[in-house]
Amino acid sequence: MGKLAITGGKPIRRKPFTAWPAFGQQEARGLQKVLASRNWGGFPFPNKYADAFAQKFARYHGAKYGVAVSNGTIAIEIALKAAGIKPGDEVIVPAYTWEGTVGPILLLNAVPVFVDIDPDTYCLDARLIEAALTPKTRAIMPVHLAMRFADMDEICLIAKAHKLVVIEDCAHAHGGQYKGRGAGSMGGLGTFSFQESKLLTAGEGGIVITNDDMFNQKLHSLVNCGRKEPGYDEFEGFLLGWNYRLGEFQAAVLIAQLEKLDERTKQRAANAAYFGEQLRKIKGLSVIELDKRTTTPGHYQYIFKYDPAGFKGLHRDKFLEALMMEGFMFDGDFYVPLPGRDIFPVTADYYPAIRERYGEAITAKHADDLPVSKKAAFEESVWVHYPYLMGGKELIDEAIEAIKKIQDNVDELL
Ligand SMILES: Cc1ncc(COP(=O)(O)O)c(C=O)c1O
Repeated sequence: MGKLAITGGKPIRRKPFTAWPAFGQQEARGLQKVLASRNWGGFPFPNKYADAFAQKFARYHGAKYGVAVSNGTIAIEIALKAAGIKPGDEVIVPAYTWEGTVGPILLLNAVPVFVDIDPDTYCLDARLIEAALTPKTRAIMPVHLAMRFADMDEICLIAKAHKLVVIEDCAHAHGGQYKGRGAGSMGGLGTFSFQESKLLTAGEGGIVITNDDMFNQKLHSLVNCGRKEPGYDEFEGFLLGWNYRLGEFQAAVLIAQLEKLDERTKQRAANAAYFGEQLRKIKGLSVIELDKRTTTPGHYQYIFKYDPAGFKGLHRDKFLEALMMEGFMFDGDFYVPLPGRDIFPVTADYYPAIRERYGEAITAKHADDLPVSKKAAFEESVWVHYPYLMGGKELIDEAIEAIKKIQDNVDELL
């Protein structure tokens, strides 16, 4: 029997973690009001709570318009449609993201072009974008991943030079600000998810924000079965749309959650800063440092980097197994490069536009030139999930204690 929990010793943490999602009286009051109103759905669109929330959320992030929808994947789908993405068009995406970023591109029979991530941010590497452009490129979709912003200065410059639309996937970036500008307000369109693990949640939900009048008009139509409201006749043609509306119960919860976002963002930032200070002191671990242009970091998850050299060559996954037995469920391959991922089976019989670039299927061989994404996924990244940043210092101290315990007793694992 060893000292580590995985070799039979006592685990560091036995107590439960911060309960999630967090809620209070405000959410309960909002839900009761909607219940009593008997006005529960998303129609007439935009309905009362969904519209109030959408406008508030958009303003909070520095955008003129917001359109609430049923989830974050749909938000991306209608953002792409509003941007005019057509079959065969190419959209630049980071390879290291959730499949919800890329699925909607395929749904439109457009073509995702995977670009590697920047090792300093784990977001789309702006230095690699120009080489990936072709005459078919129409949009760039950076994802502000986990706790850092993509290089929006550079991405917006490239987009301007090549007349491309920028769609920011902000599923991880609620409340974040870059050079004083809110996440989602810097490109043409910004999308968010309110799925249960997100910083702001109603279980499910999403939103698109924009500063562009025409995008806003198209979005309204796309969410509401293609209906044109008075004054919406400026855009050409008829937009075929489905019912993608958000219900009033969810909107009421989101209004209450938005009130707390400031405070939660501060709490997470303080915890993340403290966590970083402690991690930097441990040999073999490093932190994805904050870019000076980030005015407010929106920490969805905390990611740090693991180097086996600090742990006598122990692979990250073995380290994570030991950490789990100490009571800390951190993740390594939370995301892996999308080409070849099990949950991403993309074949040309369903998505014919991919054929020219990828052949009959997008497979793991299409991840061959994505070394940074692969290293992050299979060797280096450690993802610390949301409840860990909602606890206090004590929780972080315990996590650090567990990490040090593994380092001090690593021989038990070799
Ligand atoms: C980066 C990213 N993009 C898009 C989405 C899609 O959001 P949803 O799950 O609300 O459809 C998610 C959600 O998990 C995400 O993490």
